[in-house]
Amino acid sequence: MATQGTFYSSSLFLFLFFFGLLSFSAEAALKKYQFDIQVKNVSRLCHAKPIVTVNGMFPGPTIYVREGDRVQVNVTNSAHYNMSIHWHGLKQFRNGWADGPAYITQCPIQAGNSYTYDFNVTGQRGTLWWHAHIFWLRATVHGAIVIMPKQGTPFPFPQPHMEFNILLGEWWNTDVEEEVKKGNKLGLPPRASDAHTINGKPGPLFPCSEKYTYAMEVEQGKTYLLRIINAALNDELFFAIAGHSMTVVEIDAVYTKPFTTQALLVGPGQTTNVLVQANQIPNRYFLAARPFMDAPLTIDNRTATAILQYKGIPNTVIPSLPHLPAPNDTSFALNYTSKLRSLNSANFPAKVPLNVDRHLFYTIGLGMNPCPTCQNGTQLTASLNNITFVMPKIGLLQAHYFNIKRVFRTDFPDRPPTPFNFTGAPLTANLGTSLGTRLSKIAYNSTVELVLQDTNLLTVESHPFHLHGNNFFVVGMGIGNFDPAKDPAKYNLVDPPERNTVGVPTGGWAAIRFRADNPGVWFMHCHLELHTSWGLKMAFVVEDGEGPEQSILPPPKDLPTC
Ligand code: C2O
Repeated sequence: MATQGTFYSSSLFLFLFFFGLLSFSAEAALKKYQFDIQVKNVSRLCHAKPIVTVNGMFPGPTIYVREGDRVQVNVTNSAHYNMSIHWHGLKQFRNGWADGPAYITQCPIQAGNSYTYDFNVTGQRGTLWWHAHIFWLRATVHGAIVIMPKQGTPFPFPQPHMEFNILLGEWWNTDVEEEVKKGNKLGLPPRASDAHTINGKPGPLFPCSEKYTYAMEVEQGKTYLLRIINAALNDELFFAIAGHSMTVVEIDAVYTKPFTTQALLVGPGQTTNVLVQANQIPNRYFLAARPFMDAPLTIDNRTATAILQYKGIPNTVIPSLPHLPAPNDTSFALNYTSKLRSLNSANFPAKVPLNVDRHLFYTIGLGMNPCPTCQNGTQLTASLNNITFVMPKIGLLQAHYFNIKRVFRTDFPDRPPTPFNFTGAPLTANLGTSLGTRLSKIAYNSTVELVLQDTNLLTVESHPFHLHGNNFFVVGMGIGNFDPAKDPAKYNLVDPPERNTVGVPTGGWAAIRFRADNPGVWFMHCHLELHTSWGLKMAFVVEDGEGPEQSILPPPKDLPTC
């Protein structure tokens, strides 16, 4: 059985290898990657179909760097779709040109063209990921980013023997872009995916999966680091390993206070690093992932599996399944989330903004609009503060940097136009959403608190919100309506989790804080692709500061044009 992973070994060979690296690259290195966007026939679940890939791989190649490195990824687009790649969670300090969301920070790379994403990895180490950031193409165009600590800096937890990347995803038997088009015609969501996957493979609970099961080999008594990434389009996922507990040590490339758990909850866009000790009777054990869904919608309990296999155990042994929380287990989800804390050590302090310059309150709404051209006569839609975001025709960052007028407005409201009982009785209509490319302007270096409030417009649902260009601290979270008089007193301002994607609980709220010290245009959106495509997105314009290192860098020469 094939084993993939990265060894940490003190064998003489590896010692010499690392010693060699040490002597030649004490300074930050330049790491170059070539990404060829190409269509390839791939088969899963008894079906073969052409998919868009990077270098013909699904999932795509891992970007492997060290903190402090400069990275250049030359992306050549040989597919028939426009393309852009986002380096999810990398801060891209002053360098939105390399961030990647199509029409937000760049025009897409057109078929036949290429663009080099050129960025520094500064002040971050851990697991992130990259994905296509245009339409639904990230279904097959995604991969891991592993940022090792600086040379000579150990992890703040026991050194693992070896590490594995675990990418959770979704698979459609048909062309996803076609499914989206069909859905839009009807005014409905596209067909749900046909399987969940672990490293691109659904595992034996799905048909024709004999060849399509990922397996990782472990040795008894050793400790392993798993870098778990949720690359699914529309599902928050529970993850567990039969017979083994996991110790969470990092989320979204930020170290956490370690805690041990039987299962994880990972939202789309989020990453979680865990230590796993191979301390059980040598055998084969299933790793499993399946959706968490506590909204009153259809329950999806299709489970992706992979195998944790002790060395020497034959493939004929049938593994046992782990105990995963029930698909609608809200209390597990809330309890798990409440255990996440920043490490907040001397080396890795949690710099939580204690004073807030700018208070923002955004309602998350789903809705239904009349649609004369849709087969149903209506169309599902989504909004923040009742505004459904309209994608511009050129990149917003260019429009901002070159001062091109009439591309966007900067009057995104700081609070909803009409307050209402957000999570009260279901309201069947939306409150009259308007369309617009409206951004919120933020003064350089100001501190921002944003409360994201779910609403019962159409239905409550949990929403993984992702902010580009910045990490934020999740200082508070609750069920029901946010109470500005009482809830702030309960905030954790000492060691709240720092991340780039937060799950706003179903029918609840999340409060995040960040310092706007990264000038540029930064996208913020629900990482459920379905909701993003319905307009559940907006962007911040963080203004330049006065100092020499406080303004947006000039754009690269090969920046694509629209
Ligand atoms: Cu991972 Cu804007 O995305």
